[in-house]
Parts: sequence; C-alpha cells; structure tokens
Amino acid sequence: MPADLAPPADPTTPPTASSQPLLEARDLSVRYGGVIANDRITLSVSPGEVVGLIGPNGAGKTTFVDAVTGFTKATGEVSLGGNRIDHAAPHRRRNAGMARTWQAGELFTDLTVAQNLAVAVQRTGVWTMFRDIFVGTPAPAEQIAEALDLVGLTAVADRHPDELTLGQQKLVGVARALVGGTRLVLLDEPAAGLDTHESRQFGTELRRVAETGVGVLLIDHDMTLVLDACDRIYVLDFGKVIASGTPSEVRTDPVVIAAYLGAAEELSAPPTDDEER
Ligand SMILES: Nc1ncnc2c1ncn2[C@@H]1O[C@H](COP(=O)(O)OP(=O)(O)OP(=O)(O)O)[C@@H](O)[C@H]1O
Ligand SMILES: [Mg+2]
Repeated sequence: MPADLAPPADPTTPPTASSQPLLEARDLSVRYGGVIANDRITLSVSPGEVVGLIGPNGAGKTTFVDAVTGFTKATGEVSLGGNRIDHAAPHRRRNAGMARTWQAGELFTDLTVAQNLAVAVQRTGVWTMFRDIFVGTPAPAEQIAEALDLVGLTAVADRHPDELTLGQQKLVGVARALVGGTRLVLLDEPAAGLDTHESRQFGTELRRVAETGVGVLLIDHDMTLVLDACDRIYVLDFGKVIASGTPSEVRTDPVVIAAYLGAAEELSAPPTDDEER
C-alpha cells in the first residue's frame, strides 16, 4: 500500500519500531544428508541490537546464516521487518536489507578500500537505473561513503588493504556488507585473527554501527568480543539452540559450559593470540 494510503498512526499506540524484531527466524531447519545442521532454530534480532551466535566448531552457525540469507535450502520461517522472506532468492533478501559476510572473506588487495565496497554495490538492469533516478536511491559513491563512515574508515577510503591494520581490514569486510541500506548484517567470524586490543576496538565499532539502528548478528569464537559486544547471545550445539540470554546469563549457564567441554575458563578468559581454535 502506498504510504499516502496507509491509515494514520494511532496516537495512543506507543511506537513499537524498536521493539519489533528486525529478523525473526522460527523453527529453521537444515538437513545435509543424514546431518541435521540446524534443528528448529528460533532466534530474533531487533533494530539496534548486537546478538551473538556461538557454539563449538560444526555446531551449525554458518549454516544458520546460509539458511537466513537464502544460500541453502531450509524449512521454517524467516521474516525481515515483519515480512516473510523464506521463499525469496538470496539477491531479493539482500535488496530487502539483509547482508552477510563470509567466513574467511577476503578483500581484493589490488583495489582500494572504496573500490572493495564498490564491487559489492554494483547493480545492473534498466529497472534499477530508473528506480535510482526516480525514487532517489543514493548513488553508489554516497552509499560507499556512508558505509565507510559507519565503521570509521573514511580517512582510509583510498588506501589499499595491505596499508591498513588487520583490525581496519576486518572493518572493511563489515562495511562491504553495510553498503546500500542494510538493516540487518550477519557477520560470520568477522574478527578472526585479531589480537585482544584490535578485537576490543572492533567490538566498539560494531556497537557504533548498531547505535544507528542496524541489527547485527555476530558469530565469533572470540568469547571476550562476543561477551563484551553483544546484548544477547544464542548458543548452538549440534544444530540446536541450547541456551540464550544476556552475556552474564550465558557465560554462567552450566549447559553452555558443558558444551564447551567443561572448560569454564574458555567463556571468561581472553583467548591468547596463538590459541588453537
Ligand atoms: N554444504 C554442506 N554439505 C554437507 N554438510 C555440511 C555443509 N555445510 C555444513 N555441513 C555440516 O553441517 C554441520 C554444521 O556446519 P557449520 O559450518 O554450519 O558449522 P559452524 O558452527 O559454522 O562451524 P565453525 O565454527 O567450524 O565455522 C557440520 O556437521 C558440517 O559438516
Ligand atoms: Mg562456520
């Protein structure tokens, strides 16, 4: 319905925009042959929220991102901003405002930071061109500048990735997903390889991104980052959600500690740089 035909908002109803989940996954399941990689996962992310998704290797975290973004076949429901999208192709989900990063996503080393983002925003088609002109969709250059600003990389837009710190390189990966009206970003181990200091800065930048209203789903094995940066955390084991709650609830949950092989300290101590994952 066009906006001017919509009924006027009821002034007695408080605004619910920030409380309505941006992402709602309900009973999401993925099966690979005999393996149930995701087993009826129900999870939500609200606008402005950083939500962690953790679990041992092979727990099904990447599979969940694949299922939500349409890169693998799943059963169950996925809604973005209240609209069901579970039958939409990946590019339609992307256009609806959800974007992901890939585990071990590499940057193009021969391109500048801004060009690395431009590659993500290239769009084709006559319809897109007309829509951009008549609906006033910001030009790619403007979108790129906005995304770089969101993660604090404006000053290095014309540098090449190898001139940046590792932490900045990781943020380029995040900015690439934020380009072009992204409302929900799903980050698959975006901070892998960062040391404790860089990882803390990365967490601060993620919080800044969320403050603009973007919903963030963060997958990472760096417990310090996840516990510090997230509002809520879901814990997966063998494809199932075994716990969820605030960082302090999750870190002391005996079920979670057991899933991490009884290593209670793994949920509290910062990982060392050379620690095996
Ligand atoms: N394309 C695929 N085909 C078959 N099995 C797969 C496929 N992708 C993942 N799996 C299996 O699904 C399960 C979940 O894998 P997934 O990659 O989602 O785990 P993860 O939690 O992301 O692990 P990690 O922390 O190592 O990245 C594993 O048993 C994995 O072997
Ligand atoms: Mg994974």
